[in-house]
Amino acid sequence: MRPLNYRNTAIMITGASSGIGLAFAHALAARGANLTLVARSGDKLSSLAQELAHRHSIRAHALVADLTETGAASDAHARASALGLTPNILINNAGFATYGHFDTLSLERQLDEISLNCRAVVELSHAALPAMLKQGEGSIINVASTAALQPLPYMAIYGATKAFVLSFSEALWQEYRARGVRVLAVCPGATDTAFFDVVGAAEAGVGTRMATDTVVNASLQALDRGQSHVVPGGANRMLGWLPRMLPRQTILQIVANMLRPRHRVSI
Ligand SMILES: NC(=O)c1ccc[n+]([C@@H]2O[C@H](COP(=O)([O-])OP(=O)(O)OC[C@H]3O[C@@H](n4cnc5c(N)ncnc54)[C@H](OP(=O)(O)O)[C@@H]3O)[C@@H](O)[C@H]2O)c1
Repeated sequence: MRPLNYRNTAIMITGASSGIGLAFAHALAARGANLTLVARSGDKLSSLAQELAHRHSIRAHALVADLTETGAASDAHARASALGLTPNILINNAGFATYGHFDTLSLERQLDEISLNCRAVVELSHAALPAMLKQGEGSIINVASTAALQPLPYMAIYGATKAFVLSFSEALWQEYRARGVRVLAVCPGATDTAFFDVVGAAEAGVGTRMATDTVVNASLQALDRGQSHVVPGGANRMLGWLPRMLPRQTILQIVANMLRPRHRVSI
């Protein structure tokens, strides 16, 4: 499969204000892509857009949106298109997790988690695909997680949302690959970002945390190869095989032992 040339492409990155999304923004600006940077933190996005535009002579726009809100994702796509930045490449990266006993966690927060991690991904993909199909090329990268590979007791909603993202992405990969559109699900393990501060519990992050650049490089290599999904890192890939080899209840017990809250939390 042909490696991608990002120069003069229009790329929308959700969750570009920090972590993995920020690393995607730096990597793709350096490759000459024009960027629409989406998140809630307007100040962070504006200074990032200015910095990247100046350093790499590209167009970079800050687009402030709370993607948990109904219609916000479609509206973000329309605003990007009005700027002449209809995405050739869409990176659905924004996401967060809740951690703790399901019954003690705020229902509203968990429904927001589903909205951001799943609904916004579907809405943006649905908005972006027609132009990609018309051009006969385009790419969608959906940031899932190793959490997609088995259910997660104490992070039940997060695991379920990421399983949705992986399943959805692989289905689209098969549906659209003959029509020039690449779809990739990225399944990082624990990565060194603000993610666990948002979760509010360090014990939710199992294993050594990977650098964001490593995740981004593995993602772009996998996209070049036309893969349907990638699990960055050898150790994560090995752990990813366990759910296929062990009985499902054994896996649930192992994960529960790793993630069981040391004290009751409700975030
Ligand atoms: N870090 C890990 O260990 C890890 C592992 C596997 C998968 N992932 C996945 O990687 C993705 C990126 O997470 P990260 O680790 O980079 O965490 P992060 O540093 O907390 O970044 C999350 C990004 O999402 C944005 N965001 C959060 N809520 C939003 C909302 N309502 N509307 C729009 N944007 C919103 C945040 O920006 P604002 O706050 O400015 O809105 C931020 O830019 C997520 O999908 C996460 O599930 C992370």
